[in-house]
Amino acid sequence: MPRLGFEYRQQRLYCEEVSLDDLARDLGTPCYVYAASPIVANYRAYSGALPRPHEIHYSVKANSSLGVLGLLARAGSGFDIVSGGELFRVLQAGGDASKVVFSGVGKTVEEIEYALRAKIGVFNCESEAELLLLNQLARRLDERPRAALRVNPDIDAETHPYIATGLREHKFGVEMEQAEGIYERHAALSHVRLEGVSCHIGSQIFDTGAFFEALDKVIALALGLRKRGFNIRYLDLGGGLAVAYREQDAGPSVGDYASALADALEGKDLTLLLEPGRSIVAQAGVLLTRVLYRKRTGGKEFVIVDAAMNDLIRPALYQSYHEIIPVVRSSGRAMVRADVVGPVCETGDFLARDREMDDVEPGELLAVSTAGAYGFVLSSNYNSRPRPPEVLVEKDRFQVIRERETYEDLIRGERVGENKPTGKRNKAGDGEES
Ligand code: LLP
Repeated sequence: MPRLGFEYRQQRLYCEEVSLDDLARDLGTPCYVYAASPIVANYRAYSGALPRPHEIHYSVKANSSLGVLGLLARAGSGFDIVSGGELFRVLQAGGDASKVVFSGVGKTVEEIEYALRAKIGVFNCESEAELLLLNQLARRLDERPRAALRVNPDIDAETHPYIATGLREHKFGVEMEQAEGIYERHAALSHVRLEGVSCHIGSQIFDTGAFFEALDKVIALALGLRKRGFNIRYLDLGGGLAVAYREQDAGPSVGDYASALADALEGKDLTLLLEPGRSIVAQAGVLLTRVLYRKRTGGKEFVIVDAAMNDLIRPALYQSYHEIIPVVRSSGRAMVRADVVGPVCETGDFLARDREMDDVEPGELLAVSTAGAYGFVLSSNYNSRPRPPEVLVEKDRFQVIRERETYEDLIRGERVGENKPTGKRNKAGDGEES
């Protein structure tokens, strides 16, 4: 099921109790719309089913809007972050710093210090150098954070090559063969409690067998280390399950996954950490867009809409499929095979290609489905297009959780500059080049 919280009532598409054509009339298009209830329900599905003890860290990169983070913080979720900016968002949204895990291959000194001062829960270190830097900065700030080493289990997860991360040639983590040596050398760091092993093999992985191959490897590593006296207490298995983007697909079930995890971890005395992103928010969001024009050229039909690759880049970047459905349905309407394209000046600007769809007319509204994850977060101002608003619907109420950008927003912090550049330093230090 590619949509959760969206359904037709008398031929009009609703998000929870709010009609999407009313919403589009009020707020304009393009516009992201999220259903609150399924986001919370998806989180609860994990928290209710995963073996205990566990910690769930919603992966902020999937959808980092304050409204969405606030919803999950109130439901009790922790957060997986990959930047200082994401930490700032989590704190602004009322998230609990002690439930934050910081992943990422390139953490800067400033970011690590910010996270140490905020007293986050765990650092997932992706190299020996980062672990040593963490120890040094923690000593300076008189902190003693919990940390894990992210290992790369060398597993070929079948997913798009841009989002597979678990092969040894990928930039993430350290090779399994190096991991033991790093633990050996740094088990007794003065200011870091190296108590975990983490991995993340990729996103949108349909075959959960790949997760268990990875889990077996990290369990073996953790138990081996423990036998040699290391205090390994938890395993972080990275991201969550894949989701269905097409009506006929079914994503893996949280219940089945959780019970297989419970079997694998039975009797091991290890806390499980999970960082689901997509499976919490993807199906609970749509991108609303209006048809601007129809045209037929080069023997092809085009549906030209007001949303573009700058609003939703997934089709262009990962050749991903998003269902596109009319907001107001009419029965018995003709179908057409068309490309759904936006106004951006690139041939790569498409939301769908060769799509069998309703033969829609200019002025009609479409909903691009399964756009709640990696949608708005990957948007840009390319072609100087203001980014769309985001709306969170809860039952019969909605809130604009992010305003539509204005032209003024587009140039914030910019200046035309004068003839002579200012602020340029020379040896005399007078700001002028001699
Ligand atoms: N943890 C780590 C360390 C990650 O790198 C990721 C995703 C996650 C957790 C969350 O994984 P999920 O539960 O969402 O599968 N932009 C791409 C997806 C990039 C995923 C990057 N890492 C897309 O639109 O498909």
